[in-house]
Amino acid sequence: MSGGYRQLLDATIGHLESLKQQGVHHVYASPELLNILKQPKFAPDSLSENQGEQSRSTLQVIAKPKVGNSIYDSPRLGVDDKNSAMSIIKQEILTIEKSPELLASKANLVFGSGNLEADLMLIGEAPGEEEDKAGIPFVGRAGQLLTKILLAANFDRENVYIANIVKYRPDTLGQVFGNRKPRPDEIKFWFPYLDRQIEIIQPKVIVALGATALGGLLGNMTTGITKLRGKWQSYRSVPVMPTFHPSYLLRNQSWAVKRQVWEDMLQVMERLNMPISEKQRGYFLR
Ligand code: URA
Repeated sequence: MSGGYRQLLDATIGHLESLKQQGVHHVYASPELLNILKQPKFAPDSLSENQGEQSRSTLQVIAKPKVGNSIYDSPRLGVDDKNSAMSIIKQEILTIEKSPELLASKANLVFGSGNLEADLMLIGEAPGEEEDKAGIPFVGRAGQLLTKILLAANFDRENVYIANIVKYRPDTLGQVFGNRKPRPDEIKFWFPYLDRQIEIIQPKVIVALGATALGGLLGNMTTGITKLRGKWQSYRSVPVMPTFHPSYLLRNQSWAVKRQVWEDMLQVMERLNMPISEKQRGYFLR
């Protein structure tokens, strides 16, 4: 049995044990889910088999490059299966041995939140201080602005799914305030978990919030977010709309930048065949 498969099995058993302790005696798993679980790509293959055991369970491990096939080729799961599959990934993350930096910073897992059947998935960079405390992405100042933008576009947080590439707040040891950007090795390590979340949700559209999220999805990004925003990209057949990160909007209050983000959201609404009012079309026009 491979190390990766063993780890998945342990995570699954751990999860089922904890459900049992909470009084749950039956778990629904459809034939599709059982089939997916049998496939190696659903196992924690983010850690390449031949990279050796030395680093398998540490956060420094370099993840295997993602599979490039369309996410829509995977079976579409029902909501119960999506829940089970997400719980397995979450449990798997919780079993990863933390790096000394993460242990020291006592960061909490910020896995992702929202509707597993969402048409729209939003992807950010990494949790900040507020998200770390709450265990929920985008709840700080940038998150509140994101929630407003979503509401203006007729979405609420209950009908979208929001996740970050990096699942723990990057440590800021010795730093008095603020957050730091995740390093490339952190992005590379965590990306496969996000990839699996995307595969489970199978959204119709992804909004990439800022350069880090977009860079994670597109791989080598030679063109900056300023040039790419507003132009459809694609990740494993999912249309991706790059836009500015809400924290950039907090720093740059210009009407023109607000309008740009809004135009990106209008494109998302159009792509999802949502009705758009004249009033909505005119927001932030001067
Ligand atoms: N910024 C992000 O990229 N993600 C969060 O969850 C919060 C702030």
